[in-house]
Amino acid sequence: MRDPRRVAVLISGRGSNMQALVENAKGYAVALVASNKPQAAGLDWARERDLPTWAWDSKGVDKEEFDRTLSAALDDHRIGTIALAGFMRILTPWFIGRWRGRILNIHPSLLPKYRGLDTHARAIEAGDMVGGCSVHVVTEELDAGEVLGQAEVAIQAGDTALALEQRVLAAEHALYPRVLSEFVNR
Ligand code: GRF
Repeated sequence: MRDPRRVAVLISGRGSNMQALVENAKGYAVALVASNKPQAAGLDWARERDLPTWAWDSKGVDKEEFDRTLSAALDDHRIGTIALAGFMRILTPWFIGRWRGRILNIHPSLLPKYRGLDTHARAIEAGDMVGGCSVHVVTEELDAGEVLGQAEVAIQAGDTALALEQRVLAAEHALYPRVLSEFVNR
């Protein structure tokens, strides 16, 4: 069986969660940083640290062809667990089936509240007293798989979506490495 502690982190942008996963890796190793955006800033950070990287621009590429190629790259690197971290792409049912139960994601809300985008603005708009983030298993339904861990962040009077996002992001960086470590070692 594939070693679940060999983790690939999938990013599309700055990759601050990926950095937190690398810097706080305990009980797992980030064996690949992969992206559907060759210009993703997080790739440069990973390369500077000599981490293996993989990138292919998904724009205009057939979705399943992309996912099959990505999956082959993960196989090449003997990956056992996939951590989505700001990966702005919906994976195909084929890919999710191929890696069933082995893909995690971090989402910036207290799921099941606020699946999808603009989570912080929606939480403030609703008058919520707390926001936060969730690490969950990825299934075919967007942001709907089993929740493995959450962190709450108080919403303050006069909070903006940006201010809340920054505080939640700090909570994400603490939560994700801890939950990933528990997941791969359970
Ligand atoms: C984070 O807010 C994460 O919760 C969401 O996308 C953002 C990624 O940020 N899924 P980063 O690329 O990890 O900095």
